[in-house]
Amino acid sequence: MTRPAPARRLSPLRLLGGLAAAFVLVQLVPYGRAHTNPPVQVRPAWVDPDTQALFTRACADCHSNETRWPWYSNVAPVSWLVQRHVQEGRQKFNVNVPGFGRDADEAAGQVRRGKMPEPTYLPLHPEARLTDAERQQLIRGLAVTFGDEEREGRR
Ligand code: HEC
Repeated sequence: MTRPAPARRLSPLRLLGGLAAAFVLVQLVPYGRAHTNPPVQVRPAWVDPDTQALFTRACADCHSNETRWPWYSNVAPVSWLVQRHVQEGRQKFNVNVPGFGRDADEAAGQVRRGKMPEPTYLPLHPEARLTDAERQQLIRGLAVTFGDEEREGRR
């Protein structure tokens, strides 16, 4: 009786070594490290300070040019996700560019429907979790500051 050759089996140690090597290698990918905050061109006329504060807590990192880039936004593969979120978020709605982006008037609706703040953001940003009262306040404030496409019946 010959036993199957053991060389093929992946030992836990080798697996760990492989994962560690892969982790080091993905750090070399250049995408995700350009953490730019372009100049602030405009600021909204916030309807009240509470709306501004709630926006800063729950939205500003992805929808302004004043993103706080945490340390892990330098570590791949998280950095790739963060980079894409900020880039796409700013494209659609950015409170620091003239006109605030083409989807600014959807901001209230996004919160009303529970789509925003972006769900993957919440585990590492407990400050972005809003109570029901805060959510209602933010919806009202966003609607007054940026318009409310859903309620104005433009769609
Ligand atoms: C972690 C990043 C992140 C946070 C925080 C975040 N967003 Fe977004 N937001 C995105 C991304 C990415 C998109 C584009 C993809 C999509 O529509 O889901 C987006 C899209 C939007 C859009 C455009 C929707 C559309 O369909 O065109 C609006 C409006 C918006 N967000 C508002 C908000 C508001 C208001 C908050 C805070 C309550 C918020 N976002 C928090 C990342 C974020």
